[in-house]
Amino acid sequence: MSWGNEFVELNKSEHDRNSFDCGEPELNTFIKTQAAKHMQAGISRTMVLPSALPLLNQKYAICAFYSVAASSISRETLPASLAKKLPGHPVPVFLIAQLAVHKEFHGSGLGKVSLIRALNYLWQVNHHMRAYAIAVDCLTDSAQAFYRKFGFEVLCEHNGRIRMFLPMKTVEQLFCK
Ligand SMILES: CC(C)(COP(=O)(O)OP(=O)(O)OC[C@H]1O[C@@H](n2cnc3c(N)ncnc32)[C@H](O)[C@@H]1OP(=O)(O)O)[C@@H](O)C(=O)NCCC(=O)NCCS
Repeated sequence: MSWGNEFVELNKSEHDRNSFDCGEPELNTFIKTQAAKHMQAGISRTMVLPSALPLLNQKYAICAFYSVAASSISRETLPASLAKKLPGHPVPVFLIAQLAVHKEFHGSGLGKVSLIRALNYLWQVNHHMRAYAIAVDCLTDSAQAFYRKFGFEVLCEHNGRIRMFLPMKTVEQLFCK
Protein backbone atom coordinates (compact mmCIF):
# COMPACT_ATOMS: atom_id res chain seq x y z
CA MET A 1 0.00 0.00 0.00
CA SER A 2 1.30 3.50 -0.75
CA TRP A 3 -0.22 6.80 0.28
CA GLY A 4 -1.86 9.36 -2.02
CA ASN A 5 -0.98 13.00 -2.54
CA GLU A 6 -3.12 15.03 -0.23
CA PHE A 7 -5.27 15.06 2.87
CA VAL A 8 -8.99 15.33 2.15
CA GLU A 9 -12.05 15.50 4.36
CA LEU A 10 -13.16 12.09 5.65
CA ASN A 11 -15.92 10.68 3.44
CA LYS A 12 -17.63 7.52 4.71
CA SER A 13 -18.50 6.27 1.23
CA GLU A 14 -14.97 6.75 -0.17
CA HIS A 15 -12.68 5.91 2.75
CA ASP A 16 -12.37 2.48 4.36
CA ARG A 17 -12.47 3.27 8.07
CA ASN A 18 -12.60 -0.37 9.19
CA SER A 19 -9.12 -1.29 7.93
CA PHE A 20 -7.42 1.56 9.83
CA ASP A 21 -5.12 0.40 12.63
CA CYS A 22 -2.59 2.67 14.33
CA GLY A 23 -2.05 0.35 17.31
CA GLU A 24 -4.05 2.56 19.72
CA PRO A 25 -7.61 1.16 20.20
CA GLU A 26 -9.02 4.54 21.24
CA LEU A 27 -7.83 6.24 18.05
CA ASN A 28 -8.97 3.28 15.90
CA THR A 29 -12.44 3.52 17.46
CA PHE A 30 -12.49 7.25 16.92
CA ILE A 31 -11.90 7.05 13.17
CA LYS A 32 -14.24 4.07 12.76
CA THR A 33 -17.23 5.26 14.77
CA GLN A 34 -16.91 8.87 15.93
CA ALA A 35 -15.04 11.09 13.46
CA ALA A 36 -17.87 11.31 10.90
CA LYS A 37 -20.48 11.84 13.64
CA HIS A 38 -18.43 14.64 15.16
CA MET A 39 -18.18 16.33 11.77
CA GLN A 40 -21.92 16.00 11.29
CA ALA A 41 -22.46 17.52 14.72
CA GLY A 42 -20.19 20.41 13.72
CA ILE A 43 -17.65 19.96 16.54
CA SER A 44 -14.52 18.87 14.64
CA ARG A 45 -13.19 18.19 11.15
CA THR A 46 -11.24 15.07 10.22
CA MET A 47 -8.82 15.05 7.31
CA VAL A 48 -7.51 11.73 5.98
CA LEU A 49 -4.66 10.74 3.70
CA PRO A 50 -6.10 8.04 1.42
CA SER A 51 -4.09 5.24 -0.17
CA ALA A 52 -2.97 5.85 -3.75
CA LEU A 53 -5.02 2.88 -5.00
CA PRO A 54 -8.42 1.58 -3.86
CA LEU A 55 -8.91 -1.68 -1.94
CA LEU A 56 -10.92 -4.62 -3.31
CA ASN A 57 -14.09 -3.03 -1.91
CA GLN A 58 -13.33 0.04 -4.09
CA LYS A 59 -12.78 2.24 -1.05
CA TYR A 60 -9.45 3.90 -0.27
CA ALA A 61 -7.55 2.82 2.82
CA ILE A 62 -6.77 5.54 5.38
CA CYS A 63 -2.98 5.88 5.69
CA ALA A 64 -3.11 8.70 8.27
CA PHE A 65 -5.58 11.20 9.67
CA TYR A 66 -5.86 14.24 11.86
CA SER A 67 -8.88 15.88 13.51
CA VAL A 68 -9.01 19.54 14.40
CA ALA A 69 -11.37 21.55 16.56
CA ALA A 70 -11.69 24.93 18.22
CA SER A 71 -10.95 25.06 21.94
CA SER A 72 -9.77 27.34 24.71
CA ILE A 73 -7.32 27.23 27.58
CA SER A 74 -7.17 29.05 30.87
CA ARG A 75 -4.50 31.76 31.05
CA GLU A 76 -3.34 30.36 34.41
CA THR A 77 -2.13 27.14 32.75
CA LEU A 78 0.44 29.05 30.66
CA PRO A 79 3.95 29.92 31.89
CA ALA A 80 3.82 33.22 33.82
CA SER A 81 5.91 35.04 31.20
CA LEU A 82 3.26 34.30 28.54
CA ALA A 83 0.20 34.58 30.80
CA LYS A 84 0.94 38.16 31.87
CA LYS A 85 0.37 39.41 28.31
CA LEU A 86 -3.09 37.84 28.03
CA PRO A 87 -6.56 38.83 29.30
CA GLY A 88 -8.26 36.97 32.17
CA HIS A 89 -10.92 35.22 30.09
CA PRO A 90 -10.44 31.87 28.26
CA VAL A 91 -7.72 32.03 25.60
CA PRO A 92 -8.72 30.64 22.17
CA VAL A 93 -6.61 27.81 20.78
CA PHE A 94 -6.90 25.31 17.95
CA LEU A 95 -6.83 21.70 19.03
CA ILE A 96 -5.30 18.79 17.14
CA ALA A 97 -7.79 16.49 18.80
CA GLN A 98 -6.47 13.31 17.15
CA LEU A 99 -3.58 12.41 14.87
CA ALA A 100 -2.57 8.90 13.87
CA VAL A 101 -0.72 6.92 11.22
CA HIS A 102 -1.61 3.40 10.04
CA LYS A 103 0.87 1.03 11.71
CA GLU A 104 2.06 -0.19 8.32
CA PHE A 105 3.70 3.24 7.90
CA HIS A 106 5.07 3.86 11.41
CA GLY A 107 8.65 5.08 11.22
CA SER A 108 8.41 6.14 7.59
CA GLY A 109 8.06 9.88 8.16
CA LEU A 110 4.28 9.97 7.74
CA GLY A 111 3.67 11.13 11.33
CA LYS A 112 5.88 14.15 10.67
CA VAL A 113 4.15 14.83 7.33
CA SER A 114 0.72 14.55 9.00
CA LEU A 115 1.68 16.91 11.83
CA ILE A 116 3.10 19.50 9.43
CA ARG A 117 -0.05 19.29 7.29
CA ALA A 118 -2.23 19.72 10.39
CA LEU A 119 -0.15 22.71 11.54
CA ASN A 120 -0.33 24.24 8.07
CA TYR A 121 -4.10 23.69 7.94
CA LEU A 122 -4.52 25.51 11.25
CA TRP A 123 -2.09 28.23 10.20
CA GLN A 124 -4.37 28.89 7.21
CA VAL A 125 -7.44 28.99 9.48
CA ASN A 126 -5.58 31.46 11.68
CA HIS A 127 -5.56 33.96 8.79
CA HIS A 128 -9.35 34.19 9.20
CA MET A 129 -9.87 33.56 12.92
CA ARG A 130 -7.02 33.98 15.38
CA ALA A 131 -5.96 31.52 18.02
CA TYR A 132 -3.14 31.94 20.52
CA ALA A 133 -1.67 28.47 20.15
CA ILE A 134 -2.16 24.95 18.86
CA ALA A 135 -2.87 22.41 21.58
CA VAL A 136 -2.76 18.60 21.58
CA ASP A 137 -4.01 16.12 24.18
CA CYS A 138 -1.60 13.21 24.50
CA LEU A 139 -3.00 9.73 24.95
CA THR A 140 0.35 8.14 25.86
CA ASP A 141 3.91 9.03 26.96
CA SER A 142 5.00 8.03 23.49
CA ALA A 143 2.65 10.59 21.89
CA GLN A 144 4.02 13.19 24.30
CA ALA A 145 7.59 12.38 23.22
CA PHE A 146 6.54 12.66 19.55
CA TYR A 147 5.05 16.15 20.01
CA ARG A 148 7.94 17.31 22.20
CA LYS A 149 10.25 16.53 19.32
CA PHE A 150 8.41 19.15 17.27
CA GLY A 151 8.55 21.90 19.90
CA PHE A 152 5.31 21.32 21.84
CA GLU A 153 5.55 22.06 25.57
CA VAL A 154 3.49 20.65 28.43
CA LEU A 155 0.63 22.93 29.44
CA CYS A 156 -1.45 21.02 32.01
CA GLU A 157 -3.39 17.85 32.70
CA HIS A 158 -6.75 17.81 30.96
CA ASN A 159 -9.34 15.00 31.34
CA GLY A 160 -6.58 12.60 32.43
CA ARG A 161 -4.32 13.45 29.50
CA ILE A 162 -1.31 15.67 29.17
CA ARG A 163 -2.19 18.77 27.16
CA MET A 164 0.72 20.30 25.22
CA PHE A 165 0.87 23.51 23.23
CA LEU A 166 2.82 25.30 20.51
CA PRO A 167 2.37 29.11 20.34
CA MET A 168 0.99 30.36 17.02
CA LYS A 169 3.99 32.71 16.85
CA THR A 170 6.21 29.62 16.60
CA VAL A 171 3.95 28.13 13.91
CA GLU A 172 4.26 31.42 12.02
CA GLN A 173 8.05 31.05 11.99
CA LEU A 174 7.63 27.59 10.46
CA PHE A 175 5.55 28.78 7.51
CA CYS A 176 6.69 32.37 6.98
CA LYS A 177 10.43 31.96 6.46
C1 LIG B 1 2.90 8.93 16.93
C2 LIG B 1 2.83 8.58 15.44
C3 LIG B 1 1.82 9.52 14.78
C4 LIG B 1 4.21 8.76 14.81
O1 LIG B 1 4.11 8.46 13.43
P1 LIG B 1 5.37 7.89 12.60
O2 LIG B 1 4.98 7.87 11.17
O3 LIG B 1 5.82 6.61 13.20
O4 LIG B 1 6.46 9.01 12.88
P2 LIG B 1 7.59 9.52 11.86
O5 LIG B 1 8.19 8.34 11.17
O6 LIG B 1 7.04 10.58 11.01
O7 LIG B 1 8.65 10.15 12.83
C5 LIG B 1 9.00 11.53 12.76
C6 LIG B 1 10.03 11.81 13.82
O8 LIG B 1 9.41 11.62 15.11
C7 LIG B 1 10.12 10.62 15.84
N1 LIG B 1 9.13 9.82 16.55
C8 LIG B 1 8.15 9.04 16.03
N2 LIG B 1 7.43 8.49 17.03
C9 LIG B 1 7.97 8.95 18.17
C10 LIG B 1 7.68 8.74 19.53
N3 LIG B 1 6.67 7.97 19.92
N4 LIG B 1 8.44 9.37 20.45
C11 LIG B 1 9.46 10.18 20.10
N5 LIG B 1 9.80 10.42 18.80
C12 LIG B 1 9.05 9.81 17.88
C13 LIG B 1 10.86 9.81 14.80
O9 LIG B 1 12.02 9.23 15.34
C14 LIG B 1 11.20 10.84 13.76
O10 LIG B 1 12.36 11.57 14.14
P3 LIG B 1 13.42 12.10 13.04
O11 LIG B 1 12.65 13.09 12.17
O12 LIG B 1 14.48 12.75 13.86
O13 LIG B 1 13.86 10.89 12.29
C15 LIG B 1 2.42 7.08 15.23
O14 LIG B 1 3.31 6.27 15.94
C16 LIG B 1 1.00 6.75 15.67
O15 LIG B 1 0.06 6.90 14.89
N6 LIG B 1 0.86 6.27 16.92
C17 LIG B 1 -0.43 5.85 17.43
C18 LIG B 1 -1.36 7.03 17.64
C19 LIG B 1 -0.81 8.12 18.55
O16 LIG B 1 -0.20 7.84 19.57
N7 LIG B 1 -1.06 9.38 18.15
C20 LIG B 1 -0.58 10.55 18.85
C21 LIG B 1 -1.67 11.52 19.14
S1 LIG B 1 -2.70 11.09 20.55
